[in-house]
Amino acid sequence: MQRMPWDELLAAAVEVRDRAYAPYSGFRVGAAGLVDDGRVVVGCNVENASYGVTLCAECGLVSALHASGGGRLVALACCGPDGEYLAPCGRCRQVLFEAGGAGLLVNERPMSEWLPDAFGPSNLED
Ligand code: THU
Repeated sequence: MQRMPWDELLAAAVEVRDRAYAPYSGFRVGAAGLVDDGRVVVGCNVENASYGVTLCAECGLVSALHASGGGRLVALACCGPDGEYLAPCGRCRQVLFEAGGAGLLVNERPMSEWLPDAFGPSNLED
């Protein structure tokens, strides 16, 4: 099994976290993901005066994945203000599942643990 560069991914997540726009919660989040072609894509949370339309860091990362050429995520680190791993929210788990499937490693644990029995693209096949 491929060894994942967890230290590098967490460092990249911390770096992008410091560019988060979080004036309302003050809770800055960063995420960095390794793509199956070796690229690293990142995202940070972007809040809004209309609180409910806030964009999570992981959603920004998935947008960056597609904007920079697509591919599949194989490993991802997400961190919060303390620089430690942060559990992705429920919506982000679904978004990440689409981009990496059950085998995607998030904070060193497979998506199949973060989102067991996930609904995904295979459910739409006939
Ligand atoms: N947040 C993320 O960016 N990702 C998550 O998975 C959990 C929550 C952000 C959204 C909001 O800007 C702040 O953290 C507090 O909820």
